[in-house]
Parts: sequence; C-alpha cells; structure tokens
Amino acid sequence: MSNIGSYEERIRDFSWSISEKELGYNPGGIINIGWLCSDRICELGKAQKTGLIWENASGVVKKFTYNDIRLASNTIGQFLRDLGIKPEDRICLFMDKIPELYLGFLGILKIGAIAQPLFSAFGDESLFIRLENAWTRAIITQKKHLPKIRKILDKMPFLEFIIIVDQDPLKPLQSREIAFDLKNIPKVEVFEICPTRAESPSVLHYTSGTTGQPKGVKHVHYSIISQYLTSKWVLDLQDDDIYWCTADPGWVTGTSYGIIGAFSNGVTQCVLDAGFSAESWYRFIEKYRITMWYSAPTAIRSLMKAGDEIINKFDLSSLRHLASVGEPLNPEAVIWSEKVFGKPFLDTYWQTETGSIMISNYPGMKIKPGSMGKPFPGITATVVSPDTYESFDVPGKIGLIALKPGWPSMMRMYWNNEETYKNKFRNGWYLPGDRSSIDTDGYFWFVGRDDDVINTGGHLVSPFEVESALLEHPAVAESAVVSKPDFVNMEVVKAFVSLKPGYQPSKELDLEIMNFVRKKLSPLAMPQEIEFMDSLPKTRSGKIMRRILHAREWGEEVGDTSTLEDDDK
Ligand code: PRX
Repeated sequence: MSNIGSYEERIRDFSWSISEKELGYNPGGIINIGWLCSDRICELGKAQKTGLIWENASGVVKKFTYNDIRLASNTIGQFLRDLGIKPEDRICLFMDKIPELYLGFLGILKIGAIAQPLFSAFGDESLFIRLENAWTRAIITQKKHLPKIRKILDKMPFLEFIIIVDQDPLKPLQSREIAFDLKNIPKVEVFEICPTRAESPSVLHYTSGTTGQPKGVKHVHYSIISQYLTSKWVLDLQDDDIYWCTADPGWVTGTSYGIIGAFSNGVTQCVLDAGFSAESWYRFIEKYRITMWYSAPTAIRSLMKAGDEIINKFDLSSLRHLASVGEPLNPEAVIWSEKVFGKPFLDTYWQTETGSIMISNYPGMKIKPGSMGKPFPGITATVVSPDTYESFDVPGKIGLIALKPGWPSMMRMYWNNEETYKNKFRNGWYLPGDRSSIDTDGYFWFVGRDDDVINTGGHLVSPFEVESALLEHPAVAESAVVSKPDFVNMEVVKAFVSLKPGYQPSKELDLEIMNFVRKKLSPLAMPQEIEFMDSLPKTRSGKIMRRILHAREWGEEVGDTSTLEDDDK
C-alpha cells in the first residue's frame, strides 16, 4: 500500500496541517530543520537506525546512525558557533558529496545560520559571484578546492573563515584557513538548538536566469512541511526503504530530497560520491538493495544508451519505486524503465524556487508517459495566457504554468533582489517560467521554458553568464550562447563567437576557449561546440539576436525577422 493511497481522496480533504501534525509542529512555535532531521528521529526511537550510507569511487564506505548524524551535526554547529557564527550568517558548503556536506548542512541549520550549498565543480568566477552576492561569512570545503578559493580571496573581505575538513596536519594553513576534522574532535552530546521559527531563513540556493547574475533563492525552516510530505506521498518513503537520491546537494533536489525529505522521514539513504557509469550505478543498487530511486532524465537516458544487456548482470529486484526530476522525461524513458526494471520512472516537476514537488505522478495513479502528472494536493496549478495571465480553460491549449502562492516551501525572496522576485508574480499567480498544456483528465504536459535559460542534463545554465565569460577571453570579440539538441542531456551549450582582429579560428583556439569557460564557470556551462562567425546577427541597434541562432540549431522557423530587428526599439 502506498503512503498516498487515493490521490482523489487526498485532494478532497487536504490541509498542510497533516504535515505539521506528523512533524509535531505547533503553528507559531519553534521549527528547526536540523533538529527535525536528526534529534527528532532519535527521539522517535530510531537513534540506532542507519541514516546515511556513503561510498566513494575507491569503494570506501562510511555509515552513520541517526544518533551519529545528531552528534556530528551538533559538533559542526558548535564549532561554527564558537567561531562567532550567528543566526542568519551565510555559510557556504563547497564540497564533493562527502559526509561532511550532509552533516554540515544540518549543523548550520541547527545554529540558525543559512546554508548556501554550491556545486563543487564550479570555477572561481561562478563561486565568487555567488559568495559576493550572499556576502558569505564562512565556507566549508575540502583541500582540493582551495586553489579556486585562494584565487579570489583578495576580492572577498567578507569571507572570514575557510574551514577545511580534510586538512593535512603537516601542511601550513594560509590566511583565514582553519582545519576541522570531524573524526578527531570530541562529539557534542548536549547542544542548544537555535529556536528558529517558521519564517527563519534556512537555505540559499543559487539558480540561473536569462539575464543578470544568478539569483539566490531564499528558503525558510517551514519549507520542511512541504518537503517531508512530498517525500512521503510522492517518493513514497517508508520505514524500511533504502533510498537513493542521485542529485548533488549543490542543487535543490540534493537538499530538499537528498537531505531534508529523506532524514525527516527517518529512512536509510545512500550516497554515491563518484562519477557516472551505468555499471557502477547498477552495482550500487544491487549492493545496498536500494528500494526507492530518485534520479533525472539525463541519467536515465545515459542508462538507456548503455544498453539492456548490462542490466542482466545485476540483481536489481530490490527496486520498488522510481521517480525523476529536472527536465522533460521522454515517454521512451518511462516505457524503457518499465520494461527493464519492471516499474516506470514517475515524473515530478518543480524548481529551486518552489522548494518541493509541485506537479507529479503518484504511486497508484494511472501514468501517461510523457506527462508530468497532476498538482500535489494543496497545490493549485493551471496554465495561463501569456497576455492576460487569466487561466485557460481549454484542454490542450499551451500557456504559462501558474501556481497559486502559499505552499510552505515557496521561496521567500531572491537574495537582495526584490524586483526580480516581484516580477515572477502576475494576477495572483507565481509563474515558474515554463510552458505546458493540460489535458481533459487534468494531466500537465510540459512544452518548454519561456525564456532562454539552457537546461542541460537537468541543470540550468544562463546564456548571459557564458557569454560574459567568453568575452573575457582575449581572442573573443562577440559571443552568443544558445542551446542545441542532444540525445542524452536533452540540450547542451553552443557558442557562436566572432574573433578579434589578429585571431584565426582553429581547433586549438576552439579547445582553449572551451577550457577557459569550464575553469571559470563549470563543466556544465562549457560550450560543447563553438562556431566561429565573421560577425553575429544583430538588431539594427546592435543587439545580438540569440533567437535566430537558437531557431537554426533546433531547425525551427526563424519567424518574422523584420519584427525581430525592431525588437529593441
Ligand atoms: O524548466 C523546468 C525544468 O527545470 C526547471 C527548474 O530547474 P531548477 O530550479 O534547477 O530545479 C531543478 C530540480 C527541481 C523548471 O522550471 N524542470 C524541472 N522538472 C521538470 C522540468 N521540465 C520538465 N519536466 C520536469 N519534470
């Protein structure tokens, strides 16, 4: 029996108080994600239950009971507090998927500070922009990432502490660096949790937009009310589940469901801190007898590409429930997973700003492959006209996805950017920036984004950021960045570049520019292809017309270019 039971019945009498009661939260009282994800689970009698199983590429395994998680997060929290870290200070987590990332996240929340997780493959520029925007006070990291931090340190007077979790005791520390070794520090048994309330800030995740710098999405402790219940009803987390969320906590899936949802439900979750290969993933599922697997379409398509034969080498019979998020899940992937795993991946739709699943397929509900499913109970979702922002009441008509604000995990603000935040709301709706239609049965069918943001392998990349990075290369005069189709990643970054006088296109220059972007921004933002042009198509006033280049890549009609040329008037 699934946790959600009947979707129709859940909708009929839904109230977020269901979640509040299950988590023991009294409206107006104290609510702390760090406590709910560790101490409370211990109080419920699961102190000796394994909460986290971690394995890395070399096969090293570490296991933590819920009591270990409680003690380790207390210890990290105490260490930060002793440094003088105060509630609402921003503390960046800049690490691979090592245990300290998960434990540190909870420790930061326990002292009421704001956790700012960043993808450890970010280059120095991506890192700097986000730390500067948040005015981050401390960063917790591994020694292998120090060169990137040291490179930008002079520009960051606000960053007081660089906490290194694996510092070699014989190596000297540099300015602002502090060693913290969880293994060798006495564990803090009794710890005073910061009495955070529903609206106390908790997590700051950065997401990319079309123009301007990345936006810091501010969440609050009350978000756990959504994350707990969606984990229970959509991911169907049950007491004996062995859960694997493949997302990195640098992205919202890795925190909302890779930390908060999993631990608040008291399940055992596994983390594989290693690169992707079909063989290693199947081996991981077999070894730990994974029952619930939350992943992403790009990974699923990569597994499809690896072929069915390899699957027969493994015993994957433990799998009970599969779900996916981040980008459109094509019908072939759903049908394939049903064929090879005996169950379909259920598509779930949401975003950094929404903090939890908004539209989804549910255990027991009829699945229409290719559809994102229906709104989570308590979520009012529709599609609206892009002109009037009135709800369309016509099945099949494509409009903007619109969500009625008010669910617990909705973002509370873009950090220092109220104007952009306000712009996301129209006619009483929150607009995530996606297009969809709804069929006669109320199922949502994703059509595409309503902006130029590139979704590569489930990760959003801003064309603006990549263009800016390209312009910093000495050979680049102009740049335009669009997406191009890709079987596995759905879309990848492509750059059009015109060169400064004295530079000639060449294979070497091509690779050099790609590498330049990879180091500055991240491997995801690196263009997979660079096309050199004498000059880029522009409007009459000189604005580069990305739309023409985009249409060309996707084999679409360019449309009326005369109006495009007037675009900027
Ligand atoms: O465009 C939608 C796409 O990913 C965007 C959100 O990206 P991000 O904030 O990085 O969060 C990703 C993980 C929650 C959305 O605005 N997206 C997300 N899920 C789906 C999707 N597109 C199609 N189908 C989905 N299931």
